[in-house]
Amino acid sequence: MEKMWAGRTAGAVNKDADDFNSSIHFDSKMYKQDITGSMQHAAMLAACGIITDSESKLIIDTLGDILNDIDSGKLAIAMDAEDIHMFVEAELTKRIGDTGKRLHTARSRNDQVALDVRMYLRDETNTVLELLYELIDAVNEQAKQHVNTIMSGYTHLQRAQPVTFAHHLMAYAMMLMRDCSRLRDALKRMNYSPLGSCALAGTTYPINRRMVAENLGFDGITLNSMDGVSDRDFCLELMSAYSVIMMHLSRFSEEIILWSSWEFKYVELDDAFTTGSSIMPQKKNSDMAELVRGKTGRVYGDLVALLTTLKGLPLAYNKDMQEDKEAIFDAVETVQKCLNIFAPMVRTMKVNKDNMYKAAQKGFINATDLADYLVVKGLPFRTAYKIVGTTVAKCVSEGKVLEDITIDEYKQIHELFDTDLYEAIKLETCVAKRTSEGSAGPEAVKAQIDHVDDFLTNERK
Ligand code: ARG
Repeated sequence: MEKMWAGRTAGAVNKDADDFNSSIHFDSKMYKQDITGSMQHAAMLAACGIITDSESKLIIDTLGDILNDIDSGKLAIAMDAEDIHMFVEAELTKRIGDTGKRLHTARSRNDQVALDVRMYLRDETNTVLELLYELIDAVNEQAKQHVNTIMSGYTHLQRAQPVTFAHHLMAYAMMLMRDCSRLRDALKRMNYSPLGSCALAGTTYPINRRMVAENLGFDGITLNSMDGVSDRDFCLELMSAYSVIMMHLSRFSEEIILWSSWEFKYVELDDAFTTGSSIMPQKKNSDMAELVRGKTGRVYGDLVALLTTLKGLPLAYNKDMQEDKEAIFDAVETVQKCLNIFAPMVRTMKVNKDNMYKAAQKGFINATDLADYLVVKGLPFRTAYKIVGTTVAKCVSEGKVLEDITIDEYKQIHELFDTDLYEAIKLETCVAKRTSEGSAGPEAVKAQIDHVDDFLTNERK
């Protein structure tokens, strides 16, 4: 194929160099955005008198045909083209001759690619948001079933205080809601059209950048042409938001893996989200959760790769920037795949209430409540804390739990202990009494669940 720039150079060809230079095998993903952007560019060129109405119409109609033909599989994207921009332009010119050659007036591939990536990521990030809503919904629906399911909350992975499974799940709902807000925030900041920045310095043609921006659903235009073509902050912001999503999914995965182990047996994943072993017949492994945890590193890697690519680049466009696409495509696709598997995995997860309860009974997780009991009777917290600490030590040495000690023994430890202490240290009481906003008590958790329901209604409309 003759080089588009043969003229300035003799256009000598080296196959390896061409392959190395080419981005078509990954940027062909953006064909829809590229063609839609070009259609609006052509409309604007006519509106500003730069090309005629009939030229513009022919270009737009033909671009529409090309889009349909790619969509339907009638037209295959040629992998020997340099990139998607060149392919579409070449196809257009093949179909309508010289008129096709007018499209690239007052435009450069530098602003074109910056536009396409923004549009592509805007579309894909909206899909990520939908998937996040789906997961938040799955978490919230599980939580609704388990407002009274008592489990131990942990710190340092040691049993700490009684919570409910719903409360534990709602912590993830909060993280995922923040993820949505981070994405929305990034989307807002990136929704400005760079088209019209041209190669780097803008153009001498009387273009109307705002018209194109508006027709493509942007909130405005980028205000400096050199920044317009060389800014990839939006990629970094999105990838950092994706990284945080993955970190959340990875922590959640880690817990699901632990909870599914025979040591915990708190949950059982639906068969569809587990695998067996090729040698050990008894195994049911939580591979999906492990893979999500594993893929988290990959998304972090994508972010760091692009940060590193950009750090030494002088203004404005440099070919290094072509490297943005594989990183960002990989990141967004990985996040989508992980979210896509996670929502049904959480939705179908079976919860073993009895095991959670049994484990909660063994870890002295009501010790704080016993101290609080003495505080209500008049002791300072530090004194009460010490007394209960001694009581726990006695239990441990005797192989007992706090509930096993008789009232006489309690009286010997401190006279303020009375028979009502047994009611006070029941796990149900400990949880029910946690009524402060945001706490683990059923009423406080119901408020969290309502909040999430409202969030989903508002976001989804
Ligand atoms: N394929 C290129 C990229 O992805 C398009 C822009 C090329 N611009 C240029 N001046 N060579 O960045």
